[in-house]
Order: sequence, then C-alpha cells, then structure tokens
Amino acid sequence: MDLSEGFLATPPNFAPLALKELSGLGIAEASPTAGGITFRASKETVYRVNLNSRVGTRVLLRVARFPARSFKELEKNLKALPWRELVDFRAGAAFSVSCSKTKLYHTGKIEEISRLAAGGLEEGAGATLFLRISGDEATLSLDTSGELLHRRGYRTLTGAAPIRENLAAGLLLFAGYDGSEPLLDPCCGSGTFAVEGALIALKRAPGLFRSFALETLPDFDGELWEKERQRAMSLERKSPQAPIFASDIDPEAVGLAVSSARGAKVADFVAVAACDMDELEPPTPTGLLVANPPYGIRLGKSGEVYGKLLKILREPFGGWRSGIIAPRGKAGAFRMGKNSLELRFLNGGTELYFEASPPLKGAIS
Ligand SMILES: C[S@@+](CC[C@H](N)C(=O)[O-])C[C@H]1O[C@@H](n2cnc3c(N)ncnc32)[C@H](O)[C@@H]1O
Repeated sequence: MDLSEGFLATPPNFAPLALKELSGLGIAEASPTAGGITFRASKETVYRVNLNSRVGTRVLLRVARFPARSFKELEKNLKALPWRELVDFRAGAAFSVSCSKTKLYHTGKIEEISRLAAGGLEEGAGATLFLRISGDEATLSLDTSGELLHRRGYRTLTGAAPIRENLAAGLLLFAGYDGSEPLLDPCCGSGTFAVEGALIALKRAPGLFRSFALETLPDFDGELWEKERQRAMSLERKSPQAPIFASDIDPEAVGLAVSSARGAKVADFVAVAACDMDELEPPTPTGLLVANPPYGIRLGKSGEVYGKLLKILREPFGGWRSGIIAPRGKAGAFRMGKNSLELRFLNGGTELYFEASPPLKGAIS
C-alpha cells in the first residue's frame, strides 16, 4: 500500500497561500490540485501540516486508488486493503461516500459493501474515511485532522457573523502581515483577526492546543508527534515584534474577543477596547488595519459602518495599510491604488472580497 500522498484541503482561492505555507514548513514536494494541495506524505509531514497549517481545512491521507467499474470490482479492491492498519476496529469508523459520473451511484449500498469488505467495520468515531467514486475510479482517503483545522479550540463563544479562523489567518498572510508592523481590527467581534494575528506574530503553531484524529489511529507515533510539537514550540517568539489592537462598539463583543485571546493564550499581546471606530486614535503612526464590518446580508447598518471605515482610512489612519472585507457591491470603494490586492472568498456561503493595500517591502507575503 502506498500511503505517500497527503492532501491539504483549502478554502477556494487559498491554495497559493497554503503552498507557501507548506514550503515554509520545509515540505518541498507539494503542488496545487482541485480543492487544495497534494504533498509527499510521511508521518512527519502529515503531523507537521496538521499542527502548523493556518490556512488549511483538513489533512487527508490517500489510502488507495483503484478501478471500480462495478460493485464486484469495488468489493474486490476494497477487500485487498490492510484495514486493521488503518482503523481501530474497536472504535469503528464513519464513511463519507460521494459519487460522480459513475454507474455506482447508490452511496448507501457502497458504504455497506465497504464495511463488509473491510471485515465488518462498524459505525463509530475511531476514524473518518472518505470514499470517492469518480468515473471508473475509486479513491479512499483517511482523515488525519478530525475537527476541521479552523477549529483551533480558542474560540468557544462567538458573536454575530464571525469569520473562520483559517480564513482570517489566510487574509492576514495575503495582506503581507508577518507580525513586524502594528495590527488593528476596529470592529473585532470575537477577535478572530487579532488572535490569528498574534499567532502569526508569535510564529505559534495554531494546532498546539487541540487534538487531532491522527492521535487515535492505530499507527500513531507518540514520540514523533511530541518531536513535532517540540519543533513547533522551539520556533516560537516570546512576544510579537509590534503591538496588536482590537476594538468594537459592542461591549459584549469586547468580552468575546478577550475570551478568545485568553483561550489562545495570547491575551498578554492583544489590547482590546470598547470603542466606536470613528472615535479611534491611531495608536501608532503606521500599521495594518483589518476589518470584517457588518456587510448587511446578515447584519444591519452596513452602509453606515462602511462609510465610517472609508472616512477613518482617509483620516486619521491615512498612514496605515488596510485590508477590508466587503461584499461585491462595496468592494470597489476600498481599492487602494493600482497595486492593491483582491481576494475573492466564501464565508458562511456568502461571496466576499478582501481588498488589501500592497504589502510592505521585505514582508514575507
Ligand atoms: C461581522 S462582525 C465582526 C466579526 C469578527 N471578525 C469575528 O470573527 O468575530 C462586525 C462587528 O462590527 C461591530 N461594529 C459595528 N459598528 C461598529 C462601529 N461603528 N465601530 C466599531 N465596531 C462596530 C459589531 O459590533 C460587530 O461585532
């Protein structure tokens, strides 16, 4: 069995950011593919990507690829796999079956065949297997992440329309944020940008304080896992190079942001305040202002907040770079000159644009 292919799933349009991330982790054999990045998998690289990826959604191991032109052929090829090396049979496993352009479209029957072919694999939480049948070919993948990677574990409470942690991290990286300039989110909600910014600035692995599915797999190597955790911790900075600020007009949101920062163990590095953004004074002459304002689809008063943002970006934050999330209609207003950057993405099913100033010279964008 060749378990040498790993797959890091990413949000749409985030694969280039993930590719840079993998190269920074010393994983050279990686290339973009539909929905993410494939990379040369070893236990070491799979552990490292799970622990360190800020942008990815989950890490899968490609277990097998084989022809599946009939149920019989599917069953025969599934039977040949070393199931007991993949899954702890006492804990069982979940199957997620998907089919496209195949005669074998009955997902319930495919799951039944798979469980029998595996030697009586019961439903259970021991592992999650993805079986995709496309055309004449089946691909079986094993989930090594468990909870999706954006669930770092620090955000237990959220306010209205929070942005996913991996999207916030990806947008910061896209804007060229590397922790060397001050960061401010003037409408921070549950504080996701500020916390992800602090994790980037500290070079802290985002997965250090959560668990992963790989830890419950039969071939889990505890020593190697601990080595990877130690490696990540040894690369951490003691404190960020530049300050991080977060504020919100809603005192309840301020409480949520403080709780997120505490959960991520970065509360000492994030200054949180209750403030209407139009009363903010720039805490430093330059920096990066990032904002995920209420965009009016799920939250009200959108026009008013975007108007305020445009105003403060002219004055008093004229010396700052910015990165603003906006829906299609409002995105154009935030284009910051001909070198500005734009990234289209989805958050909670809504199509959004991130408009960012060009990165600072020398920043690792
Ligand atoms: C979409 S939410 C931000 C979500 C945040 N990015 C997160 O991940 O939780 C928008 C936030 O803008 C805040 N807000 C609205 N008007 C504001 C204003 N004038 N000044 C500061 N914050 C404001 C709201 O209280 C709300 O928390």
